[in-house]
This record gives sequence, C-alpha cells and structure tokens, in this order.
Amino acid sequence: MKTFKVGLIGCGRIGSLLEEDSLRGKPCTHAGGVHAFKKARLVAGCDIDEKRLMRFGNTWGVDNLYSDFSDMLRNESLDIVCIATWTHLHAPMVKAAVKAGVRGIFCEKPIAHSVREGRAMVRLCAQNGVPLVINHERRWDPHYQKARQLIRSGKIGEVRTIIGHALSQSPPKLPVETYGGGPMFHDGTHLVDLLYYLGGDIDWVSGHENRPNGPKNIEETAWGMMRFKNGAMGFIEGGGGRRYFGFELDIQGSAGRILIGNSGHELYLTRKSNRFTGFKELEQVSFPSPKKYQSPFIGGVQELIRNLRTGEPGLSSGEDGLKALELIFAIYRSASKNGKQVYLHSRN
Ligand SMILES: NC(=O)c1ccc[n+]([C@@H]2O[C@H](COP(=O)([O-])OP(=O)(O)OC[C@H]3O[C@@H](n4cnc5c(N)ncnc54)[C@H](O)[C@@H]3O)[C@@H](O)[C@H]2O)c1
Repeated sequence: MKTFKVGLIGCGRIGSLLEEDSLRGKPCTHAGGVHAFKKARLVAGCDIDEKRLMRFGNTWGVDNLYSDFSDMLRNESLDIVCIATWTHLHAPMVKAAVKAGVRGIFCEKPIAHSVREGRAMVRLCAQNGVPLVINHERRWDPHYQKARQLIRSGKIGEVRTIIGHALSQSPPKLPVETYGGGPMFHDGTHLVDLLYYLGGDIDWVSGHENRPNGPKNIEETAWGMMRFKNGAMGFIEGGGGRRYFGFELDIQGSAGRILIGNSGHELYLTRKSNRFTGFKELEQVSFPSPKKYQSPFIGGVQELIRNLRTGEPGLSSGEDGLKALELIFAIYRSASKNGKQVYLHSRN
C-alpha cells in the first residue's frame, strides 16, 4: 500500500514543539500525528527559524530541511502538506501548495485571517480537487464524536440550549491587522466549530465584545448569542480576564444534558426525583466510553488520507473551517452595531 509523503511548513508549537510537553497526551502536533500514522511519512520540513528547523529535523529524523516553503514544494513532490504557521500565512501557503500540485492539505485553524481569504482557499482547493482539512481537532476526539452520537440519537431529547466558553488570560494590545482577532478568533474558533458540529446550522447571531484598546486592536472578550436553525439557542464566550484556561460546552436537551470540555465529559438524564414527590430531575449517569481512544492528531491525517483514497468528505473540511470563521466575524460585526442580529448565509 502506498505511503504518503508529507512535508510540514511551520515547525513551531503546534507543528512540532508541543510534543516536548510531558503533560500532554501524545501525539499532539502535526509532526507527531504524521509520525504515528503508518501510511504517512514525514519527508521534509520548513521554517524561517533555523534553530526550530534543526530541532524539528533532529527530533523526527528528517534531513530535507528548508527555510523557504516554495523550495520545499518545488523539490519534494509531496502528497500532503501540513501548514502550521501563523494564521495570516495559511492563505498564501495553501495557494502555493495547490499550484505545486500537492494532493491534500492539512491546515491549522483558524482557516484564514479574513472571510475573503478563507473563501478563496476553499474555492481554489475545490476547483483543483485538493482536499483541505482544517485542524479543529476535537472533531476527531472520540468523546466529542460520542457526544454527537448521543445528541443525534435523541438521548438527551431535543437540544434546547448550548452554552460554551473558551477562557484564558487577557491578551496584550495587538493590532487586528496582524493578529486577526483575540480569544474568540484563536481559541474560540474551536468553540464555534463545535457549535456547528454538535448543534447544526445557525440562523443568526448577536455579538457583544469588550475591546478596551479600540477597533484597530483585538478584543479582550467577545460573546455571541445565536439561534440554530432547529430553534435551539446558543450562548458563547471567548474571552480573557481569567487566571486559568477553560474550555467547555454545556448541551441542554429536553430530556438530558451533556457537559463536555477540557476537564472531562458528563451525561445527565431525566429521572424520577428522590427529593420532590411528583417531580423529575436530571441525574448523572456514566458517559459511554468510546470503544477505543486515538489522539485527534492522528485523526486529522487519517481523514485526509481516507479522503484522498475514497473521495469521501471528512469531518473537518475547509468548508467547515470557513463556517466557523464566518460566525466569528459575524459576532464582531454584530458587536460593532450594538448587538444587531446578523444572519448567516446558508451554503447548503
Ligand atoms: N489546533 C490547535 O489546538 C492549535 C494550537 C496552537 C496553535 N494553533 C494554530 O497554529 C498556527 C501556529 O501557531 P503556533 O502556536 O504553533 O505558532 P508558533 O509561532 O509556535 O509556530 C509557527 C511557526 O511558523 C514559522 N513560520 C513563520 N513564517 C514562516 C514561513 N514563511 N515559512 C516557514 N515557517 C514560517 C515560525 O518561525 C514558527 O516556528 C496558528 O494558526 C494557530 O492559531 C492551533
């Protein structure tokens, strides 16, 4: 069976370095995910930072190292390119990879710096038949997949409300032009993506934000309230002002509730109350364990290779990444108009 040749652009934290964090589950980087997957082989790497590039080469035993991604794309006849550079570089790198004739692209989130760029990336890949997979990695986490199955099977009844947060410390003053956005953009993209994955399509959003350094700088915190097409409501916060990192979704249905996030996963179902006669309450039951656990970082590479072999669309496409980005910018747009509802254009 063919082994797919993979090159990595960006040998930084998510590209390779986080693998050195002894506390994280492994693999937890692009290089680690490719290395762990038998059908793929990491053959080349590129970074403008020479030290990082050397470190990457030594860690993974890769000799073909480049400081210019165009040279790597020209010399290596890659099947797959992983793009793990800063977000404003995703669009030009995807474009160059498609032009160089790669067969598939695994790109970091958020998909792009702007909706316009994201749309151009998705269009270009579709026109050239190149699958584009976006690393919203929780989609390949078996616990999130289980949560989705529970929701779809009606285990918690009809979804009424989804509440979510992605919280950490307040970001410094940084220009929108260079950084794209603040916490709602960087970590919030995972949250927004999961709203679609777990809750379905969204009709409209009303956004609010705290942007202490003015419109030219990124937000400290942004909030979104949205209505799903199925009538459920969502409330999310992507924000700073915390001394901890927190990531959680609370999915409340007509007959149960799922809590899922970085701290674990819980399931509650409706039961006869032991405390009040004639009442029903939610009782915690065990969250069904997935049959086997595999790092979501292997899942991303696996999905891309499956897509290349079968043509079947995967769980986290460029289109999905673009939807997340459109929602984030709709939150910002609404926030700039005091929370006026912004309708999302359906592409179905
Ligand atoms: N999926 C996740 O959970 C997750 C986590 C962290 C970061 N990210 C995303 O990954 C991307 C990178 O973030 P990071 O934290 O790893 O940043 P980082 O700064 O650690 O790594 C980026 C690397 O890209 C390199 N680079 C910059 N310009 C380049 C060029 N022209 N050619 C080759 N290499 C170049 C930099 O030198 C750096 O080593 C961002 O889009 C970020 O949003 C995703």
